Amino acid sequence: MTTALTLAWEAPTIRPHGMGEINKFGHRARRHNHVEDIDGVAIEELVATYGSPVFVSSERGLRRSIRHLRGLFERYWPTAVHGWSYKTNYTSAVCMILHQEGSLAEVVSQFEYDKARRLGVPGDCIVFNGPNKPRAAIHRALSEGARLHVDHFDELAMVSDVARELGRVVPIGLRLNFETGFTEAWSRFGFNLDSGQAEEAIRRIIADPYLRLAGLHTHIGTFILDPRAYGAAITTLCRVLGEAEALQGIPLDYLDIGGGFPSRNALQGLYLPPDQAVPDLEDYVRAIADALARGTADRGQPPITLIYESGRAVVDDHQQLITSVVGTKALPDGRRSAVLDAGVNALFTAFWYDHEVRMTRPATGVAADTVLYGPLCMNIDVVRRSIQLPPLVAGDRLVIANTGAYNNTQWMQFIEYRPAIALVLEAGGHCLIRAAETLDVMCQQDRLPPHLATIVPAPLRRVG
Ligand SMILES: Cc1ncc(COP(=O)(O)O)c(C=O)c1O
Repeated sequence: MTTALTLAWEAPTIRPHGMGEINKFGHRARRHNHVEDIDGVAIEELVATYGSPVFVSSERGLRRSIRHLRGLFERYWPTAVHGWSYKTNYTSAVCMILHQEGSLAEVVSQFEYDKARRLGVPGDCIVFNGPNKPRAAIHRALSEGARLHVDHFDELAMVSDVARELGRVVPIGLRLNFETGFTEAWSRFGFNLDSGQAEEAIRRIIADPYLRLAGLHTHIGTFILDPRAYGAAITTLCRVLGEAEALQGIPLDYLDIGGGFPSRNALQGLYLPPDQAVPDLEDYVRAIADALARGTADRGQPPITLIYESGRAVVDDHQQLITSVVGTKALPDGRRSAVLDAGVNALFTAFWYDHEVRMTRPATGVAADTVLYGPLCMNIDVVRRSIQLPPLVAGDRLVIANTGAYNNTQWMQFIEYRPAIALVLEAGGHCLIRAAETLDVMCQQDRLPPHLATIVPAPLRRVG
């Protein structure tokens, strides 16, 4: 039996070929299959409830994601522990999902430390990184048993001072940076190994009666596309571990490999699409575990604890942004463009990703090179510089994928209110996890001295 397909007739169109529309792998553009729901909740219901734009996280996706990564580590290096990188997404509900799944908190500022404590994370379940730790934050962290990773010599002196004040030996970690041969070293963070700085820091700690070296940390970068970089980093950490243990005469408690695994986003400038460019997470975990096994084989200790601080690989792919088309415009060079109600103010990652954009209705008309602008009255506000899309009309909804990492922390309070964040619940339904900003929120930190409290005595001159 054959089924008759009824398709609407469309007039044939001829249009010029645009640069970048095709490469040797074929069309960069995906098929324009549209999306009508997120985890079973209709897009229109989400917009009706929370407005547009709105970020929508998936509880099921987040839980699956961290369980998958944790499962890989359990298989290859069972003493591994995940530290949730707060700066990737510190929306409270997202942090709590990850803590419920067993992740420690990895924080890089006094604010993030305080936030983790307020959410109920015990001090000894916090890893405290970052180059700026005020004395009060160091005091609190050390008193509460956090794993503090020292970044530079001035901080080391302060940590030593606070430990003396506490009157007990404090375990601390050191952040190291070094060449892996695969990535450019992030040499501004931590102690440089190749220059001898790290060795000097280790000697100072060992000589300090109030300090004990407990861990070594590195974070080799972000969106690292070659798992071998992690093997190289672990090999170096293990070498330093051996040297430090020999010097100190006491074994260290852990190594911390930081974050940096990629998500499924398309980095701008990357030739291949993410499904070809991004290796499986298992390749990273295996590279780490193999190097750990080799590097600690002669240590004569139980398998060392490994902390990993994956941020974007855990959350990026489990949040989407629903945005609406405000208007469309033909550009003078013939391209199409659309103005959206969300731009780089909300979607900061548009600066470095070519986010996938999907429509919420079946496409009609011929796809063509389109520029997607945000709502800001600023030239920088471009969500996609070039994307193949069918003709858009005002009121269309678009769903921008993989927006869970670094947006709800780096977004700007600039020109527009920042939108709400909703969570589609694993048990069904959805709820608000962060309210959209209002005028009160925007103004609450302002203070008006009395003589500026009213516009009188300089009445406004009306125009005309
Ligand atoms: C110390 C540290 N840990 C973890 C992360 C999280 O990195 P990612 O999101 O690339 O996994 C970062 C991000 O820069 C970091 O600086």
